[in-house]
Amino acid sequence: MSTTSQQDPAKQVPRHVAIIMDGNGRWALKRRLPRLAGHKAGTENLRRIIKACVEFGIGYLTIYAFSTENWGRPREEVQGLMRILEDVIDKELSELNQQGVQIRHLGRLDQLAPALQKKVLDAVNTTRNNTQLVLNVAFNYGGRDEIVHAIQQMLIDGIKPESVTPDLVSKYMYTAGVPDPDLIIRTSGELRISNFLIWQAAYSEWYVTPIFWPDFSKDEFRKALDEYASRDRRYGKVADPDFEGSNV
Ligand code: IPE
Ligand code: IPE
Ligand code: MG
Repeated sequence: MSTTSQQDPAKQVPRHVAIIMDGNGRWALKRRLPRLAGHKAGTENLRRIIKACVEFGIGYLTIYAFSTENWGRPREEVQGLMRILEDVIDKELSELNQQGVQIRHLGRLDQLAPALQKKVLDAVNTTRNNTQLVLNVAFNYGGRDEIVHAIQQMLIDGIKPESVTPDLVSKYMYTAGVPDPDLIIRTSGELRISNFLIWQAAYSEWYVTPIFWPDFSKDEFRKALDEYASRDRRYGKVADPDFEGSNV
C-alpha cells in the first residue's frame, strides 16, 4: 500500500466528511437496469463507505440520501426510495449499532409516512450513545428548508435580533453539535451544491469525481482523503509559515 492519510500522521484526516451520493440513476441506465436498481446498488456501497470511515478514523459522516426536491421525481421512484430507507434500517441497524455508529437524521420527518418516521426515530434512539462514528442521514433534507426552520424556531423562542450570531444560528440547524464538514464529496461529476448543507459548507473543501456513487470504492474514497490532506485551508487568511495559528 502506498502512503495514505492513515499511515502518515502528518497528513490530516477530515473530522467530518459529507457526501452527495449522486449518479445512481446513470449507473443503472448504463447497465440497462431500472433506476431503483441503481439506488439499491448505492446502498450496498454505503455499507462499504461506512466501514471505511470507521477504519480511517473519521468522526462524522453525513450522507445526502433524499432532498426536498427529490419529491418531484416519478411516484414509483419516490416510493422506492422510501422503501429502501425502511429496508436499510431493518437490515442494517443491528450491525451499525454493533460497529458503534450513532445515527442522526437531518431534515423534516413529519412529511414521511408514520411507520417510516417511527423507524427513523427508533434507529436514532437505539444508537444514541454510540461514539465510533456519527452518521447523519440527510433524508427529506434541504439546506434552504433547514434555514427557514431555524429562523422559525428562533422566532418561536423569542430570540432578540442582537443575540443572533453565526454560532447561535448553527445551534438551530439540524446539525446542532456537529462540526461543519471539512470535506464534501460529490460523485457523478455534477458541479453544484443541490441545496446540501448550504450554511455548514462555508469553508468546506470540495472533491468531485466523475465516478457514479455505486462504484465509488474504498480506494476512490482514500484518493479523496489524500487530496484533502494536500489542501491548504486558508479561511480567507494569508498562509504565514511563522504564525501557527493563522489557519485555525
Ligand atoms: C442520487 O442518484 C440518489 C438520489 C438523488 C436519491 P440519482 O438518482 O440522482 O442519480 P442520477 O443523478 O439520476 O444519475
Ligand atoms: C442531490 O442529487 C440529492 C441527493 C444525492 C440525495 P440530485 O440528483 O437530486 O441533484 P440534481 O438534481 O442533479 O441537482
Ligand atoms: Mg442525481
